[in-house]
Amino acid sequence: MANPAQHLRVAQGQGERAPAPTRTIPCMPTTWPHMLLPRPAASAPLVFPFDQPGLRYRYFCRNAVWDAVQLLGLAGKEVLVPAYHHGVELETLLAAGVKPIFYRVDTSMRADYQDAKRKLTKSTAALYVIHYAGFSQDMDAARALADEASVPLVEDCALALLSRNGEKPLGSYGDVSVFCLYKTLPVPNGGALLARGEFAQGVRSLPAATRPALPSTASHLIGSLLSNLELRTGETGKKARQAIRDLGHLVIRRSGIERVSTGTQHFNQDDVGLGMSGASHVVLRNQDFAHIVERRRRNYFLLYSMLRDTAPPVTGELTPGVCPLFYPISIPNKANAMARLLARGIETVDFWRVRHPAVAAGEFPEVEKLRGNILELPVHQDLSPGDAEHIALCVKELLS
Ligand SMILES: Cc1ncc(COP(=O)(O)O)c(C=O)c1O
Repeated sequence: MANPAQHLRVAQGQGERAPAPTRTIPCMPTTWPHMLLPRPAASAPLVFPFDQPGLRYRYFCRNAVWDAVQLLGLAGKEVLVPAYHHGVELETLLAAGVKPIFYRVDTSMRADYQDAKRKLTKSTAALYVIHYAGFSQDMDAARALADEASVPLVEDCALALLSRNGEKPLGSYGDVSVFCLYKTLPVPNGGALLARGEFAQGVRSLPAATRPALPSTASHLIGSLLSNLELRTGETGKKARQAIRDLGHLVIRRSGIERVSTGTQHFNQDDVGLGMSGASHVVLRNQDFAHIVERRRRNYFLLYSMLRDTAPPVTGELTPGVCPLFYPISIPNKANAMARLLARGIETVDFWRVRHPAVAAGEFPEVEKLRGNILELPVHQDLSPGDAEHIALCVKELLS
């Protein structure tokens, strides 16, 4: 990989203003037209977790969480769950009959296994661990605790696809692991379940997944292709995107197409049977995974080198193997920051602001602080070094 510092042409100086934006930098990777080229199934990617026999593809990660509960027989049982979570994985666990017992996560997003250990009881049936923003939790400690309690370890890699702890892939520690594909890759939908050891056989007895409706997948795909058009062509693409999007909304309203949205906050049991679309498989076969990891690492590094003093990431420096999902900054007035960054052409995400009511208010003050302050800056593979520089300059402006 080239030295990323060489990309920092003008940005190191003080008091520079970022140029006016001609397009919006999306917060998620977009689908490039060449990614729809048909390829034989035999050209399926050979990187973890896609190289694993028995990987079960699902429409969302939440469906894989549902599967994990069925596979491990966790209905009606206690599961140790981190207090810092999205909310939809928790809704899924609750809908599947799990009794969550929450454990502490500190202000650096590190799971506190001492706290988890204190909450172990004879009824504990699993330990659930989440990797945040692609950064690995201490999985040796997680494994030690799960073994001590003689319970399975569930590894939630919704935010950590393609990420590793040094050489070891995240998702290869758990007895059962779940992944979200569409957060890291430009697929219209996709999640996955991986079960290892004694649990691997059980995957075959889970109900067969059903195909999602084509119009729903197509509408996601078109949205992502239009986002890509804007990214590549600026103002022209932006206008075309707006026009086609308005038309698309009209078609969806008139035709009564049921769009199963990804990235939503709530679990809907009606969609729990859905598998991954054929279109997602095609896009998946057209990915260069090494390139994606390298791009994400480079963009995180560029932001880090420009922002480490003014807006250090909560996750700290990049460690070997990490495939960062985003760059998490801590900022007090998120809504205002998001609006100002959007006005400068940067989409950001208000990360996990809402506490699920199953967690008592005030019980985990550090998690509440994270919920109140963490904003995602994009580092995905579509960003050029110039985009990363623009983002960093705009954040500096915001904080000055
Ligand atoms: C930690 C975690 N697990 C599971 C999920 C569920 O992912 P999906 O939206 O693919 O169902 C999410 C969603 O954001 C998540 O953040």
